[in-house]
Amino acid sequence: MEKFIVSGGIPLIGTVHISGAKNAALPIIAASLLTGEKVVLKRIPKVSDVFTMLEVIGTLGCKSKWQNRVLTIDTSNLFSTEAPYELIKKMRASYYVLGPLLARFKQAKVALPGGCALGSRPVDLHMNGFNKLGAKVKIEHGYVSCETKELHGNRIILKGLHGPSVGATINVMMAASLATGVTTIEEAAREPEVEDVANFINACGGKITGMGTSILSVEGCKKLKGIEYNIIPDRIETGTFVIAAAITNGRLTIKETKPEHNRALLAVLKNYGAQVETDKTSLRISSQKEINSVSIKVAPYPDFPTDLQPPISALLSLTPGNSTIVESIFENRFMHVPELRRLGANIEMLDRYTVIIRGVKQLSGAPVMASDIRASAALILAALAAKGETHISRIYHTDRGYEHIEKKLSKIGAKIKRVLDPNAP
Ligand code: EPU
Repeated sequence: MEKFIVSGGIPLIGTVHISGAKNAALPIIAASLLTGEKVVLKRIPKVSDVFTMLEVIGTLGCKSKWQNRVLTIDTSNLFSTEAPYELIKKMRASYYVLGPLLARFKQAKVALPGGCALGSRPVDLHMNGFNKLGAKVKIEHGYVSCETKELHGNRIILKGLHGPSVGATINVMMAASLATGVTTIEEAAREPEVEDVANFINACGGKITGMGTSILSVEGCKKLKGIEYNIIPDRIETGTFVIAAAITNGRLTIKETKPEHNRALLAVLKNYGAQVETDKTSLRISSQKEINSVSIKVAPYPDFPTDLQPPISALLSLTPGNSTIVESIFENRFMHVPELRRLGANIEMLDRYTVIIRGVKQLSGAPVMASDIRASAALILAALAAKGETHISRIYHTDRGYEHIEKKLSKIGAKIKRVLDPNAP
C-alpha cells in the first residue's frame, strides 16, 4: 500500500486543469450498454473506480480500449447479464449496470451492494423503480435478479428518507430509455451528473426532457445508437482545488471546469472572505486574511454537496470563530473528524448529522488515515495547511476518485509525495 507525505504551509499558486467527472463517467460507461454498439467517450478520468467499472462491463463481455484520453467501449458482444459480488463490493456504483442490462436483455442479476463507510446506503428506490417499469425483482443469495417480458413506462416517485437519489434516478432513467411508452420520474435528483447521463442517452437517440428539474420525462426508444461523447468536468475535484487555494491562502486559476456547477460552494467561499471570479469554463480564487466562520447545510444539488463537506470541514478548522455543518445525506459522513482532530482541529459532534467547528490558529502534521474518497481529500487539504509533515495512509481511497492529485498539487507548489507505506498490513 502507498501513502502520501505532505509538508504543509505553502500557499498554492498557479493553474489547475480539471478532469472529467467520475460520477458522470461511471453511469455513462454503464449506459453505453444500452446501445449494443461502439461508444467513444472523451475526458473519462483515469481513476480506479473507472477501471473497476471497466472490469465489471468486461465480465459481461464488453471490450474497452484507451487511446490517450479517449475510451472506446464495444458493447456488441455481451455474453453475460450477471455482475459478481467481487466487483460490486469494491465499488457500489457497479450497480449501475442493472438498469441498462434489464432494458436491453430483459434480465439481469447483480450482487446487492452492502453498506460502506458512509452508512447503510440501501438500493430500495432503484428496485421499486424497476418494479414500476414492469420488472419482477427479487433478492436471493445476495443477488438482485430482475426479469421482464417488456418494460413499460410509468409514473415513478424516487424520493427516499434523505431526499432524491442520484443513483436511483440514473438507473431508472437508463432502464426507461428502452421501455415502451413514457416514464415520468418525480422527485428526480437534479445533479449535473444526472443531466450528463440524460444528455448522453439523448445523443444516442433517446428522448429525455426535464433535465436539471425534479421531474424527468423519458420517452422509451426501440434502439439507441453508439456515439462519441465528452463527459462534464468534475465539480467535486474543482471544489477540492478551490478549497485548496483558500486553506493555503493561495491563488489558483482553475481551468476546464464549469463554475455554474459549484455555485453553492462559491457562495460559501465568498461569504468566507475569498475572492472569486468566474467565466464559463474557468475560475480564479484567491484568499484574504480577513475570513469569517460560516454555517453550512448539506443538501442535494443545487445546494451544498455532501462530497465537499469533508473538504470544507478542513478549511473551517482553521477559520476563526464557530462554524456549523449539518449533513443531511449520509448517516456516517464525519469519519474524517477524528483524523482532523489528530491534526489539531477542534470539532465537536453534536449528533450524527451536526458538527460545530471552532477554528484553531494552526494545525500540526501527524500520521492520519483516510476512510473514503472525500475524507482523504479533507486530510490532504488539512495537511497542506498544517505545520510540519503529515503522513496519510490508505490513499487507495483518494485514487478511486482523484486523477493524479499529487501531480496536480505539486505543479502548483505543494510538497506532496507518494511513497510505499512500510506499516501497511
Ligand atoms: N438512498 C436510499 N435508497 C436508495 C438509494 C439511496 O435510501 O435506493 C439514500 C442513500 O442512502 C442516501 C441518499 O439516499 O442517504 C442519497 O443517496 P444517492 O442515491 O443520491 O447516492 P449515490 O447515488 O449512492 C452518488 C455519488 C456519491 C454522492 C451521492 C450524493 C456516485 C457514484 N456516487 O451516490 O459520491 O455522495 O451521490 O450526491 O455518483 C463520492 O464520489 O465520493 C461519492 C460518495
